[in-house]
Amino acid sequence: MKVVLAYSGGLDTSVCIPLLREHYGFDEVIAVTVDIGQPPEDIKEAKERGRRLSDKHILIDAKKEYVYDYIFPLIKANGCYEGYVLGTAIARPLIARKVVEVALKENADAVAHGCTGKGNDQLRFEAVFRAANLKVVAPIRELSLTRREEIEYARKHGIEAPEGKRWSVDENIWNRSIEGGELEDPNFVPPEEIFKWTVPPEKAGEPEVIEVSFERGVPVALNGEKLDGVSLIKKLNDIGGRHGIGRTDIIEDRVLGFKSREIYEHPAATILLTAHKDLERLVLTRNELRFKEIVDRVWSELVYCGLTIDPLYDALNAFIDKTQERVSGEVRVKLEKGCARVVARRSPYSLLSKEVSFDVKTEQRAAEGFIFFHCLQQRIYEAVRHERA
Ligand code: ARG
Repeated sequence: MKVVLAYSGGLDTSVCIPLLREHYGFDEVIAVTVDIGQPPEDIKEAKERGRRLSDKHILIDAKKEYVYDYIFPLIKANGCYEGYVLGTAIARPLIARKVVEVALKENADAVAHGCTGKGNDQLRFEAVFRAANLKVVAPIRELSLTRREEIEYARKHGIEAPEGKRWSVDENIWNRSIEGGELEDPNFVPPEEIFKWTVPPEKAGEPEVIEVSFERGVPVALNGEKLDGVSLIKKLNDIGGRHGIGRTDIIEDRVLGFKSREIYEHPAATILLTAHKDLERLVLTRNELRFKEIVDRVWSELVYCGLTIDPLYDALNAFIDKTQERVSGEVRVKLEKGCARVVARRSPYSLLSKEVSFDVKTEQRAAEGFIFFHCLQQRIYEAVRHERA
């Protein structure tokens, strides 16, 4: 019996390996780690631990695929759920797909993940796993181990388990998420040490203006220099981080109904989403903007709850892609003490009319006829109200 495990290299997924053997009776455990821009030391640890604990460890570099096929659609959709830029959520279907690919190639009997039964990730992984009609094993959820039991079990199997870990961190190129431990108390002020990508806004250096170029809704250049998506996001994380941009502390509604206190860091996401939204306002019609706001929201909810395999997701992307045909141009953003503010934008598709200018002579009286009918029903209502009073 063979199982393929989505393996991050952390405590939960490491403990899963001996559990899959001892408790579930698998005799071959294949651990798959998907690189989507985690810190290099995490990847290194996953590789070393994975090799030592499993029968076969596979590392898949999916950074490019992640950025072009997952993050770019997210930017086009202004992806955001309750203020969260969806970095963990959007990554899970990709990881799950890679695990499924390996499982099919290896002819495995099942796939496994290390999620608990309380969070959102179990839904995101399993939507993809179950759509592939594979048997799913979730040891951490099924055995309901406490942290203490898990650490004990880990030590018995030669897995180093840091006792004093204060919080749980999940990180990839789009955002860093920190939760758990003392942060679970919404009234606890997070210490500075939880932040790794951003300086405290008050310690940020001199303000700076950067220019992002978009083509069909996705960023293609920074300060006039063409960059591939992965480098562009990395660079913006560095620059934005130095200005203390992209810190979020929210009470989030999980799919299962739990509320949880979540802290995120995401400098590039804040800059790109702010710039993209601004450019849309210049080139899309009022009707497009109003309707797209609804589409963006539904898109974000689908991603949050892990249902990107719903045909609605493809249908929404088709609509969004159509609108993005004109979302090309340059946006200048001022980075200043934790704040990313658009200060200029230009596009060949701008819908600004020259006639709006104070300095252009136009036939202003044409507005009168419009106004006469514009408030037709309201005028009648007022008349009726007085008659009936
Ligand atoms: N609440 C977020 C989500 O559901 C992030 C969870 C990340 N997990 C973590 N261990 N920090 O997508």
